[in-house]
Amino acid sequence: MNICIIGGTGFVGTHLINTLVSQGHSIKVITRRPERHRHLKTLPAVKFSTIDFFGSKILERQIDTYDVVINLAGILNPSGPNSFELVHEKVASRIAQATQAVGTPRLLHMSALNADETAASEYLRSKGRAQKAVLATEGLNVTSFSPSVIFGPQDSFFNRFSQLLKIMPVFFPLTCAGTRFAPIYVGDVTDAFINSIDNPDTYGKNYNLCGPQSYSLKELVKYTAQQIDSHSLIVPLNQFFSKPVAMFMGLFPGAPITLDNYYSMKQDSVCSAAVDEELNIEPHSIESIVPQYLSGRDFAGQMDDLRKKSQR
Ligand SMILES: NC(=O)c1ccc[n+]([C@@H]2O[C@H](COP(=O)([O-])OP(=O)(O)OC[C@H]3O[C@@H](n4cnc5c(N)ncnc54)[C@H](OP(=O)(O)O)[C@@H]3O)[C@@H](O)[C@H]2O)c1
Repeated sequence: MNICIIGGTGFVGTHLINTLVSQGHSIKVITRRPERHRHLKTLPAVKFSTIDFFGSKILERQIDTYDVVINLAGILNPSGPNSFELVHEKVASRIAQATQAVGTPRLLHMSALNADETAASEYLRSKGRAQKAVLATEGLNVTSFSPSVIFGPQDSFFNRFSQLLKIMPVFFPLTCAGTRFAPIYVGDVTDAFINSIDNPDTYGKNYNLCGPQSYSLKELVKYTAQQIDSHSLIVPLNQFFSKPVAMFMGLFPGAPITLDNYYSMKQDSVCSAAVDEELNIEPHSIESIVPQYLSGRDFAGQMDDLRKKSQR
């Protein structure tokens, strides 16, 4: 199949493209900065394109001959002109509109668990508005996916906490320590996308994606500390301190937490039911995957190990 991916150069996209290429598909990645993504350029059957999404008929011409369009574009924090509204809503609606206009058979859209127009954080509100708009586009065979936090080699969750624990070896202040997450393995997320492509039962639906077990944030940070042999004392911050700390940290570029992150992390990110059988995945536990990549092995080696493991 010919598959066009927007937002394919990041963590989830890299995993998805590696899997799709190994299955014999041809991929076009629409990216703002093709020069930055050498890790994908070495793969066969992957080409890059840079476009103005909002130029007249430009996106339509890019996807015209494609069987599937996948939108993974997303940001955790706005920067400069890259706002939540632009990336999550305008780009997503534009993709849905163009996909429908040229009659592309299939659109897969990435949302987020708890995405809702009334959520406390703008990240979740913008994701919620986008999900609603994309699913409401008439004449489109679209499926949306809403994962809890996603883990795997190169993730920004366990890897980030591992880095922070190394920077803070004595004590580690933690906001929203009691919030619960059900981390899902990136390979399970990408399998859910791939398995849904040819399944008409998934058209017009949103699927929540969670791993097999939920943990409090404190448990997850403690688990990370065990993996890297850190003895840093994890100190949960109460509500009174959490908000000002997030607000202050958010003033710095690359901050570990912002006020908007704090608002989304105040809410548990867990599913009320197991992953829908229609997606045909059996989610991996963190214990079966995380130790391999927090061990410090190179990325190619980690991907190889994990691919072999998921094929077993
Ligand atoms: N990682 C998680 O735990 C998690 C959990 C729930 C939902 N999600 C969602 O899953 C998706 C993928 O996440 P990820 O972790 O792979 O993110 P990531 O590594 O940060 O990658 C994000 C992608 O978004 C693209 N992007 C950013 N701004 C854009 C813009 N203005 N126009 C077009 N593309 C733009 C980037 O493409 P270029 O820089 O190449 O243009 C990049 O490939 C996102 O939608 C995210 O919200 C992730």
